[in-house]
Amino acid sequence: MPPSFRSVLTIAALASCQFASAQKKRQNPDDTADRYHPALTVYKCTTAGGCVANERALVIDWNYHWFHTADWLSCTTDTGSVNATLCPDQATCAENCFVQGDSNYTNNGVSTSGDTLTMYQYTINEDGEPQNASPRLYLLGDDGNYEMLQLLGKELTFTVDLSTLPCGENAALYLGEMDKTGGRNEHNTGGAKLGSGYCDAQCPVQNWKNGTLNLDGSGYCCNEMDILEANSRAHSFTPHPCSDTDCDKSGCGLNPYAQGHTNYYGLGGTVDTSKPFTVITQFITDDGTTTGTLTTVNRRYMQGGKLVDSANPKGDSITTESCNAAGTGSEKFGGLTTMGEALGRGMVLTFAIWNDASGYMNWLDAGTNGPCSETEGNPALIIQENPRTHVVFSNIRWGDIGSTFKSGAGNGSTTTKPAPTTTTSAPTATQTHYGQCGGIGYSGPKACASGFKCTKLND
Ligand SMILES: *[C@@H]1O[C@H](CO)[C@@H](O)[C@H](O)[C@H]1NC(C)=O
Ligand SMILES: *[C@@H]1O[C@H](CO)[C@@H](O)[C@H](O)[C@H]1NC(C)=O
Ligand SMILES: *[C@@H]1O[C@H](CO)[C@@H](O)[C@H](O)[C@H]1NC(C)=O
Ligand SMILES: *[C@@H]1O[C@H](CO)[C@@H](O)[C@H](O)[C@H]1NC(C)=O
Repeated sequence: MPPSFRSVLTIAALASCQFASAQKKRQNPDDTADRYHPALTVYKCTTAGGCVANERALVIDWNYHWFHTADWLSCTTDTGSVNATLCPDQATCAENCFVQGDSNYTNNGVSTSGDTLTMYQYTINEDGEPQNASPRLYLLGDDGNYEMLQLLGKELTFTVDLSTLPCGENAALYLGEMDKTGGRNEHNTGGAKLGSGYCDAQCPVQNWKNGTLNLDGSGYCCNEMDILEANSRAHSFTPHPCSDTDCDKSGCGLNPYAQGHTNYYGLGGTVDTSKPFTVITQFITDDGTTTGTLTTVNRRYMQGGKLVDSANPKGDSITTESCNAAGTGSEKFGGLTTMGEALGRGMVLTFAIWNDASGYMNWLDAGTNGPCSETEGNPALIIQENPRTHVVFSNIRWGDIGSTFKSGAGNGSTTTKPAPTTTTSAPTATQTHYGQCGGIGYSGPKACASGFKCTKLND
């Protein structure tokens, strides 16, 4: 029937149909998922305008959500795959199965307060027994999609407390080039709101690939920039450039212990992991712009309000040369140039805490990589000896080079010289950490956010 003959009745029937499907959806709280997302304050900074607080939210990865039928039966099998009877294809699967949006984040080991995120490896059940939680979270924007951080020619800064993470644990803050919408489509209307679309440089094979049922068992590769993978004993930061089908899986990373600086990072080290410290990562381009070619990933630490000296005399940097010389095949994927292009397009900020029953995280903290023995990272030991191991990330800021931190007594190179942070429009009208709180000609907030005090640096 041509469209002009479509009767009112047909239109009414169509409308009713949509209503029925909307009613069905109500069991699948796609639409209500928002209110369960833990809120997190992050700061966007510019040299001219200082840092501005932004209310954002976190979503836990898709696989942590309960996936069930309308009768509340699981659509996942005992082995963690998708039930092939209920889900022979994406459309049938969407008819039969629902993703439960209202995950209980506390029960997943996650809590937030203001600009602080705490993630536990284990939660404690009613019998007092630790249960594996190992959450992975993504930062959402204010539009129901992922926040896309565009960090080429910019910097990212945060504070981290790793004091309770033993050998074998990995608290990770990293960037992955996931689809902004989480692969939202007609059969996956939640998309990013339900944490879908994960990919990384290990090309993981998952039940879903970019929001669609993965029927051919293929992996999903995407550019990954590991800003920090760490416990209290060892750490590294690592670019992992990719092609569409493969990646530099090892990555051309920097771990000061592996470079021979064995006392630089750790409990009581130059960067003392028994206390919180601040991690500054700068993505420097050849021409200093946000559109140039990425040539250096520069790392600094701050502790006690001061920049910590670098482990290396020339600074702790990954450069085009060091990346290509790392022998991991990075050059084949375009090395830092490719990484920089992804950072320019925008990447999703990801947080995780995990351990590894197969390799005990030796690549991070044992042998030449750190002081741990090759067996003490066994999760069976961690759960016994450190059931409350957790990471605290706070004060996450990004923006122009030099705009996200202010050092009391810096010895910065030109790329790390902190620019003065000026007025913020934090909603509380109190100044945020490192923000300006006084001085000649200053008219911004003079009271500091709770927990901080205003300290005179100069006029
Ligand atoms: C798949 O789901 C059907 C219907 O709920 C159920 O009868 C069957 O046992 C499930 N199969 C597996 C492998 O879980
Ligand atoms: C999450 O679960 C905990 C413990 O079972 C409970 O106390 C809490 O109220 C739940 N939170 C929500 C938002 O349902
Ligand atoms: C992911 O899915 C979105 C939405 O369907 C699509 O626009 C995008 O091209 C996909 N990206 C990849 C890399 O598959
Ligand atoms: C920074 O350190 C170098 C050597 O460690 C020293 O020569 C220089 O004077 C210092 N600069 C500042 C501004 O403190």
